[in-house]
Amino acid sequence: MKRWMALFLAALLLCTAAAFADETPSDTLVVVFSHAGENYNVGVVEEGNTMKLAWIIAEQTGADLFEIEPAVPYPESYEDCLDIATAELRSDARPEFLGEVENWARYETVFVSYPIWWGHLPQILYTFLEAYDWTGKTLVPFNTHEGSRQAGTWREIEEAAPGATVLQGLAVVGSTAQNDPETTSASVSAWLADLGLGE
Ligand SMILES: Cc1cc2nc3c(=O)[nH]c(=O)nc-3n(C[C@H](O)[C@H](O)[C@H](O)COP(=O)(O)O)c2cc1C
Repeated sequence: MKRWMALFLAALLLCTAAAFADETPSDTLVVVFSHAGENYNVGVVEEGNTMKLAWIIAEQTGADLFEIEPAVPYPESYEDCLDIATAELRSDARPEFLGEVENWARYETVFVSYPIWWGHLPQILYTFLEAYDWTGKTLVPFNTHEGSRQAGTWREIEEAAPGATVLQGLAVVGSTAQNDPETTSASVSAWLADLGLGE
């Protein structure tokens, strides 16, 4: 075979291998529940604070992303949302969500994210956590808040996701996640490095 042809074939092989490598499915998933619309300290936003944080984490870990979308959307108004959240908390509700995670078995590490609602997980997180088998999964919580930090929710998650190994989470102030991507991104990088995660 001529030398140029051998080189050409080698280059072709390398490109094909690289293309396949890019298509390797991720074994990491970011699950996010977040409320767009009016919220505390940020006004009316198109994308919720936790969603902004979730995109940064998905980007830094190469993860897929699944959004917990409520079957009945929460009201855009902050006050109305507070009222519904109060009623759901009192009744220990399990609000339904749309869709499902495809290829659940493929994911080894699942980041689970949410805003703090009344010092707790939003009830829809229980619906999600109880819908899946967590045996053998590594679960990494992260959340946004406006003062309560993680508010004991890591323990709530541990109880609702038996079988999972729950790692140290990250709590970010919601208005920082919404308005300061550089600071948020730096906090995420440091946290992921501590956990030995990140790409
Ligand atoms: C119903 C409701 C209850 C909340 N309760 C708390 C709380 O107990 N502690 C706190 O720090 N922030 C609380 N917040 C503020 C949110 O946790 C914060 O704004 C968060 O960043 C919102 O994230 P999101 O935009 O992704 O929904 C509450 C917000 C709502 C809507």
